[in-house]
Amino acid sequence: MYKGSARAYTNIALIKYWGKKNEELILPMNNSLSLTLDAFYTETSVCFDPEQKEDRFFLDGQLQDSKATKKISHFLDLVRQLADKNWQATVESRNFVPTAAGLASSASGLAALAAASNEALTLGLDEQGLSRLARRGSGSACRSIFPGFVEWEQGSDDETSFAKQIPSANWEQDLAMLFVLINDQQKDVSSRDGMRRTVATSSFYPGWLESVPEDLAQAKIAIAAQNFTRLGEVTEANGLKMHATTLAATPPFTYWSPDSLVAMNLVRQLRKEGLECYFTMDAGPNVKVLCQKKDEAALKAAFSQHFAPERLILAHAGFGTQVL
Ligand code: ADP
Ligand code: DP6
Repeated sequence: MYKGSARAYTNIALIKYWGKKNEELILPMNNSLSLTLDAFYTETSVCFDPEQKEDRFFLDGQLQDSKATKKISHFLDLVRQLADKNWQATVESRNFVPTAAGLASSASGLAALAAASNEALTLGLDEQGLSRLARRGSGSACRSIFPGFVEWEQGSDDETSFAKQIPSANWEQDLAMLFVLINDQQKDVSSRDGMRRTVATSSFYPGWLESVPEDLAQAKIAIAAQNFTRLGEVTEANGLKMHATTLAATPPFTYWSPDSLVAMNLVRQLRKEGLECYFTMDAGPNVKVLCQKKDEAALKAAFSQHFAPERLILAHAGFGTQVL
């Protein structure tokens, strides 16, 4: 038996990854920048057994169907290739994050699986190697290997596309993110399908791509200068642009729900009243609000006037992937 276990935290992009230039290798169209968080994570153990006939995947204690298992097997094939072994495996994973609800379970899930596999088969991958491997499972997972602010450099091939931590003098410790859980059910359009449809059909997509380098540069300047206003403004603008691309896709779609708009408007209102905060959204209706730690209690109190307390979760800067 060859066994390994790992825990990985989710990350939320401030500058979004949206679109692939290579579907098989998961090479993105643009660089992205994220914050790894402490509130949501995945714990995964993987056990390779030379006697086992086929891969098995348990998520939150439930044996998964052939479609979900196939995705895992596809990833494990890469691991088997690296180890030069054809052993089948049992994967047992627990998400301390709602699955497929736009809260980045794919990031923590695949980062944990990559790190657990590295351990189980003693692949000896360093953080860069782990980031590259996690990327093959789910693009955003390559950023969850690292703590704090992280940039995924798109690269041009399998070797050159990986994430790395951005030096920040621990400024992320002064920040917080409020998760507004509007709906934690599985979404209709996965990030994978959503970005594929957008790249293929949205007339707004070229505009998105054109604008990302400047947004990314602004975000990095803001982090270096510890300028919260600048980071917040570019985060909010970049997220809105990404979501705008989906409206021009064929068929058009949106991840927003009426309550997402309630949350976005509340952020704008609070800003007017002097509480500085900025929103971003991913492939789902949930809204994430970036603020400074000193304002987190006031932010949560303001949101609890409109959303039930159990729908509000505060997160802080989280950790890199850990072997258990
Ligand atoms: P999310 O917003 O939660 O990341 P996605 O649609 O991007 O939603 O990704 C969800 C997919 O990620 C799931 O369908 C599954 O394939 C994969 N996933 C989620 N959690 C895990 C896990 N713990 N282990 C392996 N794969 C996972
Ligand atoms: C909107 O990493 O889930 O959250 O690479 O196809 O698995 P795949 O997609 P995934 O997409 C994340 C998209 C996003 C933005 C981001 O996290 O950068």
